Amino acid sequence: MPGPGAYLIGEEEKKALIEVVESGSLFRYGDKSDPKFLAKVWQLEQEMSKYLKIPYTVAVNSGTMALWVALGALGVGPGDEVIVPGYTFIASITSIIYARAVPVFAEIDESLTLDPEDVKNKITPRTRAIMLVHMLGNPGRIDEIKKIADKKDLFLIEDTAQAFGATYKGKKAGSFGDFGTYSFNFFKTITAGDGGMVATKDKGLYERAFAIHDQGHLPLRQGVEMGSRTVIGLDCRMIELAAAVLLVQLKKAEDIKAMLRSRKKRFKDGISDIKGLEFRALPDPEGELGSLLTVFLPDEKTARKVGKELESGVVADSGWHVYNNMEHVLDKKVVDSTGCPFTCPYYRDKGGSMKYSKGMLPKTDSLIKRAINISIGVSDAGLGSGFGITVNSDEKEIDKKIEIFRKVVEKYI
Ligand SMILES: Cc1ncc(COP(=O)(O)O)c(C=O)c1O
Repeated sequence: MPGPGAYLIGEEEKKALIEVVESGSLFRYGDKSDPKFLAKVWQLEQEMSKYLKIPYTVAVNSGTMALWVALGALGVGPGDEVIVPGYTFIASITSIIYARAVPVFAEIDESLTLDPEDVKNKITPRTRAIMLVHMLGNPGRIDEIKKIADKKDLFLIEDTAQAFGATYKGKKAGSFGDFGTYSFNFFKTITAGDGGMVATKDKGLYERAFAIHDQGHLPLRQGVEMGSRTVIGLDCRMIELAAAVLLVQLKKAEDIKAMLRSRKKRFKDGISDIKGLEFRALPDPEGELGSLLTVFLPDEKTARKVGKELESGVVADSGWHVYNNMEHVLDKKVVDSTGCPFTCPYYRDKGGSMKYSKGMLPKTDSLIKRAINISIGVSDAGLGSGFGITVNSDEKEIDKKIEIFRKVVEKYI
């Protein structure tokens, strides 16, 4: 099942799509003096900047490409190390690999986001950037991580794919680092099926990001550029149809957040008296999106029994959200059906002594083995949140799910 935005697709999105189809202008560029050109992508970038309070945004076709564009704009490349949590969707790591840089896995803590202490341990002379991932709708420890990045002169990228709309100390997640990136795939706060956004406060970085997403062009392809381009781009532009849907969805973002937060509160209140059950630490409880509720059981054995009965499993089993399960990233020779081994020479051969193996992050492993994700608005088996409610669940349904959860937990705890 999809994420919250998808549940709220209605007549407005349909109308916006038809409008674009009827205009015949599906490309992000057009003649601004032509009334048939609706400039939806451009409008979306303007509205996003206002919503996020980040001056420059570039719309792209996915959250993965948003990360890749950000890395490219920062000049992160071969041999450079990027610190990334071992608990994140594989796309965070993929973007680093395809930037030909070296992913360096760091531990998470009880917030299920980067552990600042381990980030410090992982810094080497090759480190260029820290990728802080705001997992499961919650901003990570932004103050602490930013302090480390500033002190060590490292770039900070906030992968905000899972936390669009969340805030930290009153400001939007994604607005603290050199770049914030967002995803609008089907599981996210707002959606167009796929889509992404790159956001930055820096005009120069914006120009580079724009060029990278569009064959090296200056923003909006202004002026005659032949002979003056410094950046090679790789088309990952958004199309007008996606932007039309997202413009409508964006107007719903704050309502979606309020709906998620109130449902999460009811669910959490309904299970908070269970002895032995702990909740994930929230660096800023006032700003969380509320899309998921993560609980810790006292030990792995209990968590596995509960996860099995709820048919959600434990977080450690949530597929390519956990480094242990990324067989094609770890130091293991994977051969596909064509007999061809997958190799990515830069991060393996030019990463110096970097080693990747199962169990290399013991703190992360021990936390996620006893953690269970409950869906509040993102029911995704791949995220280990097969059990729970949706953004549309009414009080009766929430209370029913609370009862089921309590019964299962109290049986084993
Ligand atoms: C943390 C994280 N980063 C990046 C991405 C990539 O986004 P997309 O699917 O839009 O490429 C996702 C998508 O699920 C994600 O969860």
